[in-house]
Amino acid sequence: MAKILVVVGATGQQGGSIVKTTLADPELSQEYAIRGTSRDPSSASAKALAAKGVEVVPADFSDPNSLQRAFTGAHVVFGNTTTIYDGHTKEHEVSHGRALVDAAVAVGVPFYIYSTLPNISKNSNGTLTSGGHFDGKEEVEQYIRTLPIRSAFIAPGSFMSNFHETMTPRAMGDGTYALISFVTPETQLPLINTAGDTGKWVATILSEFDKYEGKVLCCATALYSFAEIAETMSRVSGKTVAYRQVPEEVWRGFLPPLMVDFIADMLKSFQDYGYYGEKTAEKVQWSAQQARGALTTLERYLQENPLNLK
Ligand SMILES: NC(=O)c1ccc[n+]([C@@H]2O[C@H](COP(=O)([O-])OP(=O)(O)OC[C@H]3O[C@@H](n4cnc5c(N)ncnc54)[C@H](OP(=O)(O)O)[C@@H]3O)[C@@H](O)[C@H]2O)c1
Ligand SMILES: *[C@@H]1O[C@H](CO)[C@@H](O)[C@H](O)[C@H]1NC(C)=O
Ligand SMILES: *[C@@H]1O[C@H](CO)[C@@H](O)[C@H](O)[C@H]1NC(C)=O
Ligand SMILES: *[C@@H]1O[C@H](CO)[C@@H](O)[C@H](O)[C@H]1NC(C)=O
Repeated sequence: MAKILVVVGATGQQGGSIVKTTLADPELSQEYAIRGTSRDPSSASAKALAAKGVEVVPADFSDPNSLQRAFTGAHVVFGNTTTIYDGHTKEHEVSHGRALVDAAVAVGVPFYIYSTLPNISKNSNGTLTSGGHFDGKEEVEQYIRTLPIRSAFIAPGSFMSNFHETMTPRAMGDGTYALISFVTPETQLPLINTAGDTGKWVATILSEFDKYEGKVLCCATALYSFAEIAETMSRVSGKTVAYRQVPEEVWRGFLPPLMVDFIADMLKSFQDYGYYGEKTAEKVQWSAQQARGALTTLERYLQENPLNLK
C-alpha cells in the first residue's frame, strides 16, 4: 500500500511544485499517495488537484482539529506557512508553524519536512530586528528539532516570480526599464523557480530521508546579483533593463506600510551578510547539487515567463 505524503498548501506555488514532481517521478509516484490540504476543497485550484489524483482535504492553520484530521495516517507531512503582513507577522508565522507540527506529532506522523528560512537577526549579529517573516520560521525550525518527529528542512531562495510581482521593472518613459532597489548592484539573491523546482529538493529528501535528516537544503538555482538580473532581463527581452539603486527613503515609498520594514531589513541582510548568512555561496552550491532534476536558470525562466514590459 502506498504511503501517504501530506502537502500543506498544495494549491500554492511550493506545494503545487511538490505535487507535480512527486506525481511525475517514477519511484516516488509508486511509493506515495498524495493528500493535499486547502482551506476550500471546492475551489477551482483544489478541484484541479483532485483531477490529478490528489486527495484534497480541508485544513486551516487556525484550526488544530482540521490539521490533525488532515495528517492522520500520514507517513510524511510537508508543512509551510504563509506570510501575513498585518502588524503581527512574526506571531502568525510562529503560531501557524507550531500548530502544523504539533498536529503532526499529536497523530503520530513519523516524518516532517518544513519550509524554513534563516534568522536575519542572528545573521546580522542582532542589528536587523525587522526580519519576523524569516526569524519566525527559524524559531519554528528550532522548535521542530526538539520534538519526537524526524525532520528535514528546505529554505527557499528568493522567488523568480517576484519579478512579475513586487520586483517588476518599471518603465522610465524613454523606452528603457529600471529594476529598482536601495541595495548595491552587487547584492546577490539566490533565485528559485518556486512553482517549477521546489519539489526537486523535497523529492531528494523523500528518497533518502536518513541522509538529509536534520539538514537544511537552501533551495536556489544559483546566486545572481541585481546587476546580473537586470542584464539577463535585457538579454532575454531585447529591451534595455538597468539596475537602479535609489535612496532607501525613495524605495520605501513603493511598498505597503505594513510590509516595508520587513522587506527593507531582508534586503539589508542580503547585502551585508548574505541571504543564508555565513557561507551563503557554499550552501547554495551544495544544495543545488542535491536537487533531483535540472534546475531552472533565470534566463530559461524569463524565456518561459516573459516580463510584461510595455
Ligand atoms: N517571495 C519570496 O521570494 C519568498 C522567498 C522565500 C520564502 N517565501 C515564503 O514562501 C511562502 C509563500 O509560498 P507560496 O508562494 O507557495 O504561497 P501561495 O502560492 O500563496 O500558497 C499559499 C498556500 O497556503 C494555503 N493557505 C493559506 N492560508 C492558509 C490557512 N490559513 N490555512 C491553511 N492553508 C492556508 C493556500 O491554500 P488554500 O488557499 O487552498 O487554502 C495555498 O495553497 C511564504 O511563507 C514566504 O515567506 C517567499
Ligand atoms: C509557503 O508559504 C509561502 C508564503 O506565503 C508561499 O509563497 C508558498 O507558496 C507556500 N507554500 C506552500 C506549499 O503552501
Ligand atoms: C556581534 O555583537 C557583539 C555584541 O555587540 C560584538 O561583541 C561582536 O564583536 C559582534 N560580532 C561581529 C561579527 O560583528
Ligand atoms: C534569532 O537571532 C536572535 C538574535 O541573535 C536571537 O535572539 C534569537 O534567539 C534567534 N532565534 C532563534 C530561533 O535562534
